[in-house]
Amino acid sequence: MRKVVRLSVLGAGTVGGGVLTLLRENADLLEAQTGKRFEVRHVLVRDLSKPRAVAVPPKLLTTNPQTALCDPKVDIVLELMGGLEPARTLIRDALQSGKHVITANKLVMAVSGDELIRVAQRHGVRLLYEASVAGSLPILNALQGSLAGNRINRVVGIVNSTTNFILREMERAVDAGEPAETAYNTALRKAQELGYAEAAPSSDVEGYDAQYKTAILARLAFLQYVPLESVYREGISHLSGRDLLWAKRLNMGLKLLSISERLPDGRLCARVHPTLIPRDCPLYLVRGAFSGVWLQGNGFQEMSLHGFGAGALATASAVVGDLIEVARHPKPLRLEDPSLRPGETAPIESLTMRYFVRLSAPSEDALRALREPLQTLGAEFHPSETLQQGIEQVALTPPLNEGEFQTVMTRLREQENGQVQVIRFL
Ligand code: NAP
Ligand code: HSE
Repeated sequence: MRKVVRLSVLGAGTVGGGVLTLLRENADLLEAQTGKRFEVRHVLVRDLSKPRAVAVPPKLLTTNPQTALCDPKVDIVLELMGGLEPARTLIRDALQSGKHVITANKLVMAVSGDELIRVAQRHGVRLLYEASVAGSLPILNALQGSLAGNRINRVVGIVNSTTNFILREMERAVDAGEPAETAYNTALRKAQELGYAEAAPSSDVEGYDAQYKTAILARLAFLQYVPLESVYREGISHLSGRDLLWAKRLNMGLKLLSISERLPDGRLCARVHPTLIPRDCPLYLVRGAFSGVWLQGNGFQEMSLHGFGAGALATASAVVGDLIEVARHPKPLRLEDPSLRPGETAPIESLTMRYFVRLSAPSEDALRALREPLQTLGAEFHPSETLQQGIEQVALTPPLNEGEFQTVMTRLREQENGQVQVIRFL
């Protein structure tokens, strides 16, 4: 690679702005690390007139993808625009024209990572995507590098910072005696005001963002291709402050977890859902807009990483780390990527877990009807409580098969009077 490495940066928003800042502020350090200087030649945006948090020299800005992609002097393309298209096509085009690509785009890597990794391989260029999972945490590089000699058994992570912030805010509100019923909406509004959650926050709060990241993380941890649709997904939008209140009473924390594990029969199960965890679990201490990943492997035993999972400079740190790696090692290994090997996945219905069930009903009779099937399953009940909206009762089940348990829950939810909230234990 040349002494001056030339870059096209696609996107100058939160992450693009952070990358441009680090490239400028740490230019000497990057030269010391790689023996090369980095020069930004093009910055692709949608709107040239938009005010930007990080100033970009106007002569670098373009709205034409071809200007950024077809310049023969450009060695590396940084895709930091987000969304499936046109990002995926631009990544593919860049790789096919012999340029290395670094991306923070979990959607593209979860949906089309297998195809793009093969395109990079065929064209003898590198495709790196550390920033796509858990922001600044070097988890993907660790799995492919220092930890690669381990058989990984389980990966449990908080990989979405926005929902972690919202759940922490709800917990704080409940601890402060604020109304539990409005805690979710208040916390979501605060996350939007602070710029963590977007105006249309469904990708975060419905668990899609964590599902994309889980598909990527599980593929690299367990060395098998993980189709996105095989990752079970449930978000946090149905949770209420009452659930956080109950978590506190049970001395538990409530987190949106990404869990991937190899089952005894060899199949891989990957899932994202709200989960009750003990307060002495290291992941309970992952607070606010942070991410954390805990892993178990047969050599290192267990390990956790914890840090900023989102934000301009934290995410830029991972992008620039990939940039240094490409500058040092521009030739890809000629091996087929082991994470693309086919393998069997198991649906969540194969698992056995304990459940927290919160029943709400307008009358004692309606509550009894909801309670009976849970009694048959061996659940233990906390005393019922009369609230403004009706009567509430919490049941804790023994370990049960998910498939069989959910069949009972579906029948319960069909009852006209009452509501059923189910949360899994770790
Ligand atoms: P963002 O703030 O919305 O910025 C996106 C940038 O891309 C903007 O500069 C936008 O141009 C440009 N862009 C989008 N679509 C375009 C198009 N069709 N043509 C030309 N330019 C286009 O997004 P972000 O938060 O930086 O996220 C970027 C990527 O990083 C996403 O894949 C995201 O999932 C990932 N990521 C984000 C974070 C985070 O903390 N934000 C953390 C990890 C990973 P304009 O400025 O002109 O609109
Ligand atoms: N929306 C994502 C999150 C950004 O909250 O974690 C980082 O990928």
